[in-house]
Amino acid sequence: VSAPEPRADAGALADRDAVLFIDRKDRTYLRTLKRGGRINVRGMPIACDLLIGRPEGSTVDTPTGERLLVLRPTYAQLIPSLPRQAQPIYPKDVGPILLWTGIRPGDTVVEIGTGPAALTIALLDAVGETGRLVSYELREDFAEMARENVARYHGPAPQWTVRVQDALAGLVERDVDRMIVDLAEPWHLLPQAAAALRPGGSFTGFVPTALQVKSLVDALRADGRFGAVEALETMLRHWHVSGRSLRPEHRMVAHTGFLVFARRLADDANLRSELTPRDPYGTDERDGRTRAAGPARDDEGGDPPEGLEDD
Ligand SMILES: C[S@@+](CC[C@H](N)C(=O)[O-])C[C@H]1O[C@@H](n2cnc3c(N)ncnc32)[C@H](O)[C@@H]1O
Repeated sequence: VSAPEPRADAGALADRDAVLFIDRKDRTYLRTLKRGGRINVRGMPIACDLLIGRPEGSTVDTPTGERLLVLRPTYAQLIPSLPRQAQPIYPKDVGPILLWTGIRPGDTVVEIGTGPAALTIALLDAVGETGRLVSYELREDFAEMARENVARYHGPAPQWTVRVQDALAGLVERDVDRMIVDLAEPWHLLPQAAAALRPGGSFTGFVPTALQVKSLVDALRADGRFGAVEALETMLRHWHVSGRSLRPEHRMVAHTGFLVFARRLADDANLRSELTPRDPYGTDERDGRTRAAGPARDDEGGDPPEGLEDD
């Protein structure tokens, strides 16, 4: 058995590495090392050559005596500082996208709406060198920024294709394992998604408002070629841990968006009749309790957690 390859970014800090400077108040500054160059952190100049060749996790002292920690950014540290012209999907939502869809090395993945390529960078890692990622982006200037961000913060990506075109006009790919759509009205893309996805392939929509969730879920259920529809949101709250002060942070990113997941059915399957709700509001008006909408949803709500069962 051959020894595993070390991570490409495990060695000493190098020319053109993206690094994060972290000050004593845990504030972060994303910069790129350049041999012979100088970096400014809050107006304090730091010579890059002081860092190039030193191990990641080193500290550097600024001319005013402030000590800064230097690390290559993790994905979660990178994304908040990623140069952008459009809103990226944040790591708290990217995590569930990767795990709910189960993207693995070797997969063929299509992403609609590349923007600054925040999700793209995670997808490139997930599909690996044996997989394939195709990203559709309407605007050439956004696509250019995506290419720059990938080159600078991910590195070479021979498994990546950017298509600067309107995804609604049609998708080239077929037999796609996973598709992630970050557009305002993803329900318009369902015919193209159904044509591109293989049976069992997954569709994910990221939408910022509840009405968009409703429109997308309704469209997926009405289409007849999708099933196993799920909608969720994630909440992430950081904690302040200092001495005896142990509490949630006062500020949080309380809302980003909702995730809607669905699976492409086989062509001879059709769940349309089972999934059409009898009651469009999904409630029984006599007592206001949620009612199952049909045979496929008879377990609506699932088992309550232990100790919370109804009497
Ligand atoms: C919110 S941004 C995507 C952000 C990205 N998911 C990320 O994590 O960085 C949405 C992008 O979709 C692009 N877009 C909008 N309509 C499109 C279409 N019909 N086809 C392809 N791209 C489209 C926009 O130009 C924009 O860059």
